[in-house]
Amino acid sequence: MKLFIDTANVSEIQQAFELGVISGITTNPSLVAKEGRDFFETLKEIVAIVGNIPISAEVVALEAPEMVEQGKKLAALGEGIVIKVPMTAEGLKATKIFTSLGIKTNVTLIFTSTQALLAARAGATYVSPFIGRLDDINQVGMNLIQEISQIFQVHSIESQIISASVRHSAHVIEAALLGAHIATIPYKIIESMMKHPLTDAGIQKFTDDWNQANQKGF
Ligand code: E4P
Repeated sequence: MKLFIDTANVSEIQQAFELGVISGITTNPSLVAKEGRDFFETLKEIVAIVGNIPISAEVVALEAPEMVEQGKKLAALGEGIVIKVPMTAEGLKATKIFTSLGIKTNVTLIFTSTQALLAARAGATYVSPFIGRLDDINQVGMNLIQEISQIFQVHSIESQIISASVRHSAHVIEAALLGAHIATIPYKIIESMMKHPLTDAGIQKFTDDWNQANQKGF
């Protein structure tokens, strides 16, 4: 399973990219609004940092023709730009058009496997089921990953499943075990995935022992 970073914060993207663990980026209008910066300038900076890896940028129009116009402007910013489209009838129409134009899409706000199947059949490059938001309403978000994963596998569907709305590192492991192709995660979860108290304790012990032995090897 690949890891994408879920943020519009350029400095977080830079830090995650330097770690070498990130294969793509997802943004959404709320994440962009949180940064308080110009969307297009932000995307240009992201492209300059990461090059042509997938960067999901979301349209905000609600009708297919306007979605397509917005998506074309975003796609012109770089080869890696993936147009994020909401899971609606208009979003499906726009996905079909983007597919015919050779523009990659990420159909977002997916909460059922029927939505995922429709998005895939419209040609979506990626589908984004939102795990955490289902957990928030007392449904088991991971069941959705399992269902979509099984349906796509049985029917050889090529759309890739992005496990989205990930809230903690256990979600990442479960998504990987259940066959999601990608998990998109906030920077703070990448940090938490790196850490273990025994790693810190081990480094401290190695350092103390080395210093006590008065080694001059380096
Ligand atoms: C990613 O594509 C989604 O926009 C994001 O993961 C949503 O996460 P949230 O439910 O924490 O806002």
